[in-house]
Amino acid sequence: MQTLNLDLGDRSYPIYIGQGLLQLPELLTVHVQGKSCVTVSNETIAPLYLDSINTALKAYKQSAVILPDGEAYKNLDTLNQIYTHLLEAKADRKTTLIALGGGVVGDMTGFAAASYQRGVNFIQVPTTLLAMVDSSVGGKTGVNHALGKNMIGAFHQPQAVIIDTNTLSTLADRELSAGIAEVIKYGLIRDLEFLAWLDENMDALLARQPEALSYAIYRSCQHKAEVVASDERESGQRALLNLGHTFGHAIEAAMGYGQWLHGEAVATGMVMAAELSAQMGWLAQADVVYIRQLLERAHLPVDPPTTMTGDDFMRYMSVDKKVLDGSLRLILMKSLGEAIVTADFDADALKRVLRREVKG
Ligand code: NAD
Ligand code: GLY
Repeated sequence: MQTLNLDLGDRSYPIYIGQGLLQLPELLTVHVQGKSCVTVSNETIAPLYLDSINTALKAYKQSAVILPDGEAYKNLDTLNQIYTHLLEAKADRKTTLIALGGGVVGDMTGFAAASYQRGVNFIQVPTTLLAMVDSSVGGKTGVNHALGKNMIGAFHQPQAVIIDTNTLSTLADRELSAGIAEVIKYGLIRDLEFLAWLDENMDALLARQPEALSYAIYRSCQHKAEVVASDERESGQRALLNLGHTFGHAIEAAMGYGQWLHGEAVATGMVMAAELSAQMGWLAQADVVYIRQLLERAHLPVDPPTTMTGDDFMRYMSVDKKVLDGSLRLILMKSLGEAIVTADFDADALKRVLRREVKG
């Protein structure tokens, strides 16, 4: 097992990474302060892994709430199901919530934990690659609104993140690829050496070789933990973690949540960000081609949906959380391995990218 620490003073927490960690009850129990726990999962994941959590927590008063599966259910109605369960189970302020699942379950459980009785503890047990490398770490929680992705939420850090890489054995190939998009993101924004490693090891990752997956998860969590420790509330460099997300969130919302997976939308969004960066003269055309090809090798989409117009993009992008005082800020690349957040981009170049008038 490898352990990383997310350093946030008295709210610091460990990130455990290893095979078979769900079979080590003390990793969970050491982070449970009260006498009761409520596990939140969904109808796909619970039959696979809820027993392990129940066994680990057998000394506690515990129950589970099983949500419908899918990004389309990441909303206030589903969140209300969690609150109802917590009230019916008489959960109190010392109850610990366990998020067992991917980013959808993790984000909703985290928001329920942030808001139930003004805040209770929770532990992240991510079961998708995307949740392991990104969403379970850093304390961003929330739900979608029909008019915008992740628009309702809170910052609320977990007590621990427990990553059992064995759970990836049941994950669908398409979901694995979606997770790889967020892994590639770390290389693009801050680690050229890791990008080269990913280029060399893409086939091993797709074949789920344990050493390759384990290194990719460890390195990604290391990056995430460093960035969050330096800028928990996203007043500066944490925004760089959103490379491709402004374009990607627009695709997710416009197409209907769940049609494009989050990681797929981010992959296409990163290509669009690269195209705009090339239009600004920062990236070479060859870099854009390199990024497209790496994402394509990970079986990810690299072109926006043909049904989306430039106006569709602008409508959704105008409610992005990076809009400040009415002006849109984007994460762009100064070079491979170096990103910036800027409102200072050529608006005509952005329109050309959104209308697909440029191609890397
Ligand atoms: P997801 O939670 O929908 O999980 C993907 C699918 O895999 C679901 O059908 C799920 O039931 C299934 N699944 C999960 N684990 C499985 C397993 N081990 N075996 C078999 N099936 C399994 O999607 P995701 O990609 O994990 O997360 C995407 C969400 O995360 C989006 O809502 C996105 O906004 C959010 N996100 C949040 C942050 C953050 O910082 N909070 C960062 C990135 C993404
Ligand atoms: N996924 C972006 C962030 O956590 O800031």
